[in-house]
Amino acid sequence: METMGNLRRTAYCGELTTEDIGKEIIVAGSIAKSRDLGGVVFADLRDTTGILQLSFDDSSDREVFEKASALKTEYVIIAKGELRRRESINKTIPTGEIELFVTELRILSAAETTPFELRDNIKVKDELRLRYRYLDLRRESMHYPIVLRSRIAKIIRDYYCDNHFCEIETPILIKSTPEGARDYLVPSRVQPGHFYALPQSPQLYKQILMLSGFDRYFQIARCFRDEDLRADRQPEFTQVDMEMSFVSEEDVESMNEGLVKKLFKEVLDVDVPTPFIRMPYVEAMERFGSDKPDTRFGLELKNVTELLKGCEFAVFKGAIEAGGSVRCINAKGLADQLSRKAIDKLTEVVKTYGAKGLAYTRLTADGETSSFEKFLTEEEKLALRKAADVETGDVLLIVADENDEHVFAALGALRLEIAKKCDLINPDQFNFLWVTDFPFFEYSENEGRFMAKHNPFTLPREEDLDKIESDPGSVRARAYDMVLNGCEVGGGSMRINDPAMQERMLKALGFSEERARESFGFLMDAYKFGAPPHGGMAFGFDRLVMLMLKKDSIRDVIAFPKVQNAGEPMSGCPDLVENKQLDELSIQLALPVEEN
Ligand code: AMO
Ligand code: AMP
Repeated sequence: METMGNLRRTAYCGELTTEDIGKEIIVAGSIAKSRDLGGVVFADLRDTTGILQLSFDDSSDREVFEKASALKTEYVIIAKGELRRRESINKTIPTGEIELFVTELRILSAAETTPFELRDNIKVKDELRLRYRYLDLRRESMHYPIVLRSRIAKIIRDYYCDNHFCEIETPILIKSTPEGARDYLVPSRVQPGHFYALPQSPQLYKQILMLSGFDRYFQIARCFRDEDLRADRQPEFTQVDMEMSFVSEEDVESMNEGLVKKLFKEVLDVDVPTPFIRMPYVEAMERFGSDKPDTRFGLELKNVTELLKGCEFAVFKGAIEAGGSVRCINAKGLADQLSRKAIDKLTEVVKTYGAKGLAYTRLTADGETSSFEKFLTEEEKLALRKAADVETGDVLLIVADENDEHVFAALGALRLEIAKKCDLINPDQFNFLWVTDFPFFEYSENEGRFMAKHNPFTLPREEDLDKIESDPGSVRARAYDMVLNGCEVGGGSMRINDPAMQERMLKALGFSEERARESFGFLMDAYKFGAPPHGGMAFGFDRLVMLMLKKDSIRDVIAFPKVQNAGEPMSGCPDLVENKQLDELSIQLALPVEEN
């Protein structure tokens, strides 16, 4: 192998243009491809910006030409030469009109044959790609999102800094507090038996920073939640976290709309109209069956409970009498695409969301089929069809359940499923909205008590204060989520700044006075020394980048993501540690017995 000697890069491959023709240039990178055509050698050099063709021929120095003939894919080189116009133009790459005629070449590192070809549009098993993540990240489609993510972060930093925000780092080793997801714990060596938690978000610290007089804070913050991984959820992820003093919802919302507008313009040249629509949670559920509605297509829900109140169909009747609801979606004009068989498949989908079945009426020019109309009177049938605007060519889909939430979940998912199947979504559209007025409390079947839907530090709506104890389910929070194309890209709230109110909310959440003090005493004490009204939000940075790049998973915009078992296949974590390390931490393992 050779060293760089006195060669130092003077240009990046992807940034060279025909204007540089004639210049002497030094480039460095890896060989993406090389072709030895006898008297001529062409090699594609790849660096972080793109590809440049290197060329060698019989007019090259003999030693240089011999080295060029020995080049293999992924060899790392540095090369000096003269930039010239190419004979045959390659229209598929931006530098397709130019090449470097190399006069000096140094091979800095050889490479074995890679376990898969480093080219886009090839089928490679995910496991292999993740194990060799460093190779996968050399491919343009994997490389570019990470570079763009950095550009997006810079725009975000500039935006907040220009708006009087201060970037402040908050601790990673913090106190474990109840509520929220499961914590990742870190044992303390110095205080045996004591544990830190990794932050699920910088929530308490950013509020304390407002009480410390910083007025406006932001941070691109790493967060940790020990929850099951999904396409838009990683155990370790990044938030763009912000908080402001002396503001109301509208101030936080317009500040962040401004950021989104700037990002989309500068990165994608897309104009995002502001202000975004504000939709109360109840409306989002009623119309879309979801608190993160995708508004790029119709298929809205309709409540037909009232209308079917007296009907004899046992399924509807049972649901209504048990205090539930009957709701429908009219898949307008989609009868041709939704055959009986397709409806059977949709039935399986809604069942995974807790619905017990899917009733349907399918009207085509050839006739009509219905799974339930025979149980209705003619009047009921006509009234239902009229209410749902059912005409020939439509499919009416109905879910009834004693539990409203099951109906919403099932129809919300059904909407998305039909839209995907019938290709109703324009992928170039970016639909933003705010979902507001979330319920403060959410009943947890697991815990058998009410929990804070957003977090316990959120302000309840003034008008609902007298219902906190008597009817918690109806109390609305001053919380808002930013939704983009059916994905929750961010969320936040106005915060409590009065210790008495904080105590009251914690009590309503079932905290004893002692436990409230133990967990959040430092915050309630801090409120006592003068606390500006404040509020803020956090974007899921990975989700935002994913949606901007039209990727399906946040894994594609994270350099080293975790996989399903919460491991990271390249380095092989989590891993066993030495007994000595455990001893130092005063930890003994009591592993579950493995079943065979
Ligand atoms: P929240 O819990 O809603 O709010 O988180 C804010 C945003 O972070 C993203 N997000 C995730 N992204 C990837 N993987 C995950 N596991 C994950 N969990 C959440 C979502 C979400 O909207 N402290 C509050 C914010 C505030 O009130 O200011 C908070 O953490 O896009
Ligand atoms: P059955 O009388 O059980 O054959 O049901 C008639 C139709 O009602 C079938 O199409 C079922 O899928 C549908 N159905 C069953 N349970 C429900 C429900 N909870 N909501 C809507 N439709 C249902």
